[in-house]
Amino acid sequence: MISFRSMRILGIESSCDETALAVIEKQEDRLVIEKQALASQIAVHAQYGGVVPEVAAREHAQHIFPLLKQLSIETTGKGIDAIAVTSGPGLIPALRIGVELAKTLAWVWNKPLVAVNHLEGHVYSVWIHEPLPMFPALCLLVSGGHTELLLMRDHGRYELIGMTRDDAAGEAFDKVAKLLGLSYPGGPEISRLAIKGNASAINFPRPMLHTTDGDFSFSGLKTAVRKHVESCVFAGRSLPVADIAASFQQAIVDVLVEKTRRAVHQFQPRSVILSGGVSANRLLRNSLASELRYEFPSLTFHVPDVSLTGDNAIMIAIAGAFRFEKGETVDPLHHVADANMRLA
Ligand code: KG4
Ligand code: ZN
Repeated sequence: MISFRSMRILGIESSCDETALAVIEKQEDRLVIEKQALASQIAVHAQYGGVVPEVAAREHAQHIFPLLKQLSIETTGKGIDAIAVTSGPGLIPALRIGVELAKTLAWVWNKPLVAVNHLEGHVYSVWIHEPLPMFPALCLLVSGGHTELLLMRDHGRYELIGMTRDDAAGEAFDKVAKLLGLSYPGGPEISRLAIKGNASAINFPRPMLHTTDGDFSFSGLKTAVRKHVESCVFAGRSLPVADIAASFQQAIVDVLVEKTRRAVHQFQPRSVILSGGVSANRLLRNSLASELRYEFPSLTFHVPDVSLTGDNAIMIAIAGAFRFEKGETVDPLHHVADANMRLA
């Protein structure tokens, strides 16, 4: 364990469609977000209906140096104690841009390099404001690429309780949005439309709701939506788009909340963390919060500020700070991005 009174970390994120850099300062338990710069590629990928890895890499390469310049870090790296970079999981051409920048800076500035798992970054997106989570903490991580229930026993110590067997929750939102003719990314579009719809209009399936494991499966739900859309088209009826969005969203939220509730019963954590891009969803945030408050009043519930639910470099810098404190650095000369990097 390295002991620092205060440390300043540069975080770099390029695993998917956001190029992001940030500098945070960690003073024992206090965290200060000093600077951040982010370029979103959403508008570019929306033209293709989803993220195109090579296009993402080109966009990262184009934006990453101007973003670094925006942070106005001295060209010697003075004031930075370590560099934390998302090393996986993610799209390999995209990851490489951030990783190669991080390696180069670590080498030229002679600074330690910390490899951060993107999912761990999402977990640490709540490690900013008091009250902080207590261990053991149960994390429901819901993003475009992952849906996992993790038991976090301490900093950096995870046990996988369950995961999706097919589509991730965010992926299901994106695919259903596409079926409904909505633009990418689908999650925000569906949740906006759902406000105007009736969540009990269509009884979509709640896959794996009652299984005793912590696993999820959302591809059958997506197929049920597709069949409903096809039956409307076949019958010449206009699509009840808002009702479909609301009923689909309700089905997915019901499953996520129920599986988390069961895991809390089984593992008796002291805190629950909800994070990842899908944690921006109002219905999910509110339903999980009220369910936990009602059934487990002593448990603390943590969800990131909506501005930190999507991919960002602040969460990578925070996760990196905790790993750096434990002396977990990698060799900049030999480090490589890992598309399938695992957390547990
Ligand atoms: O964590 P994230 O930014 O990227 C990955 O690591 O995958 O998550 C992106 C996902 C997308 O699938 C997007 O549709 C979903 O998060 N998302 C939402 C909402 N906002 C973003 N899903 C449901 N409701 C939302 N409000
Ligand atoms: Zn993410």
